[in-house]
Amino acid sequence: MDSREHISILLVEDDPDDAEIMKRSMRRNKRVTIKVRWSPNLSSAFETLASETFDVIVTDLGLPGCAGIESFLELHARCPGVPVVVLTGLSDEKIAMEAVRRGAQDYLVKGTIDSASFLKVVRYAIERQRLLTELENRVGEIGRLERERSSVLSMFAHDIKNAIIPSVWVLKRSLSGKSGDLKGDLSLTIDNLGTAERLLSDFIEFSRLETRGYLPAKSDFDMRSAVLKQIDAGKAEAGRKDIAVECSVPAESLPSVQADERMIRRVIANLLENAVKYTEAGGVVTVRVKNHSNEILFEIQDTGIGIPYEHIPFIFDAFYRVSADQRGSGLGLAIARTIIESHEGRIWAESMEGKGSIFRFTLPGMPSSHKKSR
Ligand SMILES: Nc1ncnc2c1ncn2[C@@H]1O[C@H](COP(=O)(O)OP(=O)(O)O)[C@@H](O)[C@H]1O
Ligand SMILES: [Mg+2]
Repeated sequence: MDSREHISILLVEDDPDDAEIMKRSMRRNKRVTIKVRWSPNLSSAFETLASETFDVIVTDLGLPGCAGIESFLELHARCPGVPVVVLTGLSDEKIAMEAVRRGAQDYLVKGTIDSASFLKVVRYAIERQRLLTELENRVGEIGRLERERSSVLSMFAHDIKNAIIPSVWVLKRSLSGKSGDLKGDLSLTIDNLGTAERLLSDFIEFSRLETRGYLPAKSDFDMRSAVLKQIDAGKAEAGRKDIAVECSVPAESLPSVQADERMIRRVIANLLENAVKYTEAGGVVTVRVKNHSNEILFEIQDTGIGIPYEHIPFIFDAFYRVSADQRGSGLGLAIARTIIESHEGRIWAESMEGKGSIFRFTLPGMPSSHKKSR
């Protein structure tokens, strides 16, 4: 296998003698294979660039018809991702620095170039450009996420508004004595305000966890009793939807765990609420808790609508909902993830569209030396 480093260079230089000297100093290296393509002017350089790619462009600043750093600017504009090193005479280092300020990766002074310093300049240029491109991509990605976040926030505000406006309208109608069905109107209002309250509570909880950096208030934690209590609390809603909730929690043999009980119950409640919400009438939700090599493994499986696989990587992101007409905040799983990860646990999902989903999380047990003697 050829383990030598390969570098391909486009050399843009109008003076054939200078080009020849450059080419020789570029090739005089045993450890690196340097392939040089020579273009005597900008238009032939552009022609070459249309069909070939290069690791680096080395261009003279004194090409005919190009004043100052023009040749650099044109090449850089044409190939913004390719590092450019400019060539200059001893007397125009100032111009070369101007090119560096405008994005050239480095400059070389003609007549002072030996093959070792040339190689170093070219390698650094390639590496700096790679880092710069990576950085630019990251900045672009952050910008995209920021825009997405603000559009998602405005959608969220809309959802809250949509829950409140009809309530105001219905209450006005009731007050003016024009309601045909006062009881029905009031119960609709309670429903709508309940939705608004849930959205806002999720939002407040999520912001608190995000901005203050959540530190769990840990104490001895009884997973079995927490699960049973949450299932009890969620039973009424499941019953209303005719969904059976089954549960398998061993009475013994769970690892000892230190955890923030209120918050872990919140996680179980969110997962249970989702399992019931995204399962049709007649379905089954099964909760299991297991001892998994000194971790507690919590599992909740439903026979619901499932999640298309392309959405699965994002469902734990804040405000993410698979479908915009689902009336949730999109924050339940983000809250759950923050809580579980602050406990050094993991949380993840498996799902098949139309078949159902399994959500799992783990809580690390204490090392046996810390276990309380019974
Ligand atoms: N058990 C589940 N079955 C199907 N889809 C689910 C389930 N749990 C979560 N999802 C999907 O993940 C999205 C994010 O969940 P979550 O953060 O709890 O927000 P939401 O408030 O919408 O329930 C939901 O909108 C839904 O599309
Ligand atoms: Mg939810």
